[in-house]
Amino acid sequence: MTKSTESSFNNKSDALVQVTDLKKWFPVQKGWLEQKLAKRTDNVRAVDGVSFKIKHGEVLGLAGESGSGKTTIGRLVLRLLEPTEGQILFDNEDITHLKGEPLRLLRRRMQVVFQDPFASMNPRMSIGDQIAHPHQIHINNTPAERRSAVEEIMEHVGLTPANQIYDKYPHQLSGGMRQRAVLARALVTHPSLIVADEPIAMADVSVRASLLELMVRLKNEFDLTYLFITHDLATAKYICDRIGILYLGTLVEIGDLTEIYGNPLHPYTQALLEAVPVPDPKLRRTVAMPKGEIPNPINPPSGCRFHPRCPIVIDKCSQDIPPLVEIRPGHRVACWLAK
Ligand SMILES: Nc1ncnc2c1ncn2[C@@H]1O[C@H](COP(=O)(O)OP(=O)(O)OP(=O)(O)O)[C@@H](O)[C@H]1O
Ligand SMILES: [Mg+2]
Repeated sequence: MTKSTESSFNNKSDALVQVTDLKKWFPVQKGWLEQKLAKRTDNVRAVDGVSFKIKHGEVLGLAGESGSGKTTIGRLVLRLLEPTEGQILFDNEDITHLKGEPLRLLRRRMQVVFQDPFASMNPRMSIGDQIAHPHQIHINNTPAERRSAVEEIMEHVGLTPANQIYDKYPHQLSGGMRQRAVLARALVTHPSLIVADEPIAMADVSVRASLLELMVRLKNEFDLTYLFITHDLATAKYICDRIGILYLGTLVEIGDLTEIYGNPLHPYTQALLEAVPVPDPKLRRTVAMPKGEIPNPINPPSGCRFHPRCPIVIDKCSQDIPPLVEIRPGHRVACWLAK
């Protein structure tokens, strides 16, 4: 298990979100005969002992290859999934097992923006009504007050003129406009935290930059904190203050943007950064992308989970799990060879 020194923060902290040794194991579905014969239950270890904090007003990025556990962490923080183990604090309140009315009230304070705005909208409801929907659930006010609050938010996200777009349906808007509407819907309850799961990945290349700019502006205007999930380190560079790199359900490195990009210490982070396209053809790659596929999360490799793919592996790596330790101020890495 990767132990993070971040798990030893004081109980009262400046963090909006504080996650300690978080685990989510999904039991593997089996047929009844297989279940009878099996001596043990197999689990997909989607998240396997992750600790981090997100300060008020900060953008923490989570990056890693497909299947590394990014979305599962996002859903755990939002309390859309029940953790297997670990603790989640939100504004110093333990929300790990929150249920019922307290959980409903918490939902106002944390919102989510998914990759595909079309899939997260109701095709038969007007844009304005969809944005107003969380408002209706969480805040009791008159229809006129609600419409005016929604139009104001729509103007903020660039859905103008708001009084005309209010009555349009999702298919009548472009992909970029739809994602703006999803952002407006997230903002309408005035949340503190937004979990953005690959929010621009499906948008047309031409509108990605403006969506990111919008997210930065909204963060400042609405005093937001983001958990920004991405597999694209070029995007993360634009918006994140700190970045955590995930590999097979564990954090292998976390630190300030300048540290992770300027001084990556984990061979996996180095390989991911090397894979980011550079506009200058004269710049040659020095480190190859990690060989092979991500191993099976049901039966992860012993020791460091990255060792079968690591270009600098030593014997110790297959035997002992490297702890996530602070190598430079605020820069933590889980690698036996990191100096
Ligand atoms: N409900 C579920 N039941 C079983 N396994 C799951 C479930 N949700 C996720 N997993 C598994 O957990 C692991 C992590 O999945 P997750 O979706 O969190 O990865 P991700 O980093 O978001 O990947 P991507 O970049 O493809 O979105 C994967 O092996 C996935 O198959
Ligand atoms: Mg995902």
